[in-house]
Amino acid sequence: MELSRRTVIAGAAAAGITAGLTGGTAHATAGGRPVKSLFGKLADGTKVYRWSLENGGTRLKVLSYGGIVQSLEIPDRRGRHANVSLGFDNLDDYVASSPYFGALIGRYGNRIGQGRFTLDGTAYQLSVNDGEQSLHGGAQGFDKHVWDVEPFTDGSDVGLHLYYTSVDGEMGYPGTLRTKVTYTLTRHGDWRIDYEATTDKPTVVNLTSHVYFNLAGESSGTIYDHELSIDASRYTPVDAGLIPTGELARVAGTPFDFRRAKAVGRDIRVAHPQLLYGKGLDHNWALDKGITRRPESVATLRDPSSGRTMRIATTEPGLQFYSGNFLDGSLVGTGGTVYRQGDGLCLETQHFPDSPNKPHFPSTVLRPGQTYRTTTVHSFSA
Ligand code: BGC
Repeated sequence: MELSRRTVIAGAAAAGITAGLTGGTAHATAGGRPVKSLFGKLADGTKVYRWSLENGGTRLKVLSYGGIVQSLEIPDRRGRHANVSLGFDNLDDYVASSPYFGALIGRYGNRIGQGRFTLDGTAYQLSVNDGEQSLHGGAQGFDKHVWDVEPFTDGSDVGLHLYYTSVDGEMGYPGTLRTKVTYTLTRHGDWRIDYEATTDKPTVVNLTSHVYFNLAGESSGTIYDHELSIDASRYTPVDAGLIPTGELARVAGTPFDFRRAKAVGRDIRVAHPQLLYGKGLDHNWALDKGITRRPESVATLRDPSSGRTMRIATTEPGLQFYSGNFLDGSLVGTGGTVYRQGDGLCLETQHFPDSPNKPHFPSTVLRPGQTYRTTTVHSFSA
């Protein structure tokens, strides 16, 4: 296990980065080395780069800021590519007002009730940034940091290693957490994410990716006609603060039953109390397969109009399905249109929300000497 950052400069030199450092239009060749271009600068002058990768028909653009997937292009049934991930065309909007578009989420994806937990008898208070709760790692989560990025090619795979070290106490979390996330595009066009982390003190960790998908193309309207299946007979109901009550409720006979593919919008207006809390679907499904050694298929999303289909396989026990309920028409996306409620949806593979306070949920505790490892694979077809 090598989490120590190898020299990024060497990686960059190996990638032959000489061109495209000033423009935003650098293109990668299929199966070729990732290409780097300048995307913008933070207020303190730090440069943020965008890496372009292509393999097996999938095109991915990733920012060093937040490890953000700024664009994900896949073909439809006629071979026409569209960007199927919501985002912005400029850095300032990501910094000012992004609802986690495309970002890597840490240290803890999802909510921890009142930002509090106790581990080995010590109480910790985290950064609270969502009403009374801590959401997606707190006010300055992993989505708001610049990661060190190292491109690679490996056989027929191309990809990026992303590194971020979170210091002991950052956002209230104990332990120095060294994180490595690898984005790989395979020759089949699959997008694979491998997460790794180590700590020097007992801590909790739950990393995920926050891409908002719209398989008809971002800025094409809502995802309510997308058909979704989730291999889960139970989900974790929440309270008004979107914190799990601790119950593992059956989906049978409820709007949460996606065991057979159904349109996302079909039951979204059912007057179920759980749908009122999140203004729609915004829940964690307890996947039937639980924690697995290898990524197992857990969900399929299909847009009937384009034929684009995405299958998700993961080692994780949970899936947060968020139907873009809080998009409110106040943001202008990459394609120049306004994003409104339901214009994209997130499928965040993860451990369950508030696990540090729910001893009967799968544990999110990481101890010195252990390595956190999870994998999620997105496979595309049309
Ligand atoms: C959560 C939503 C939250 C959103 C923020 C999702 O992961 O489930 O409740 O509003 O992130 O963009």
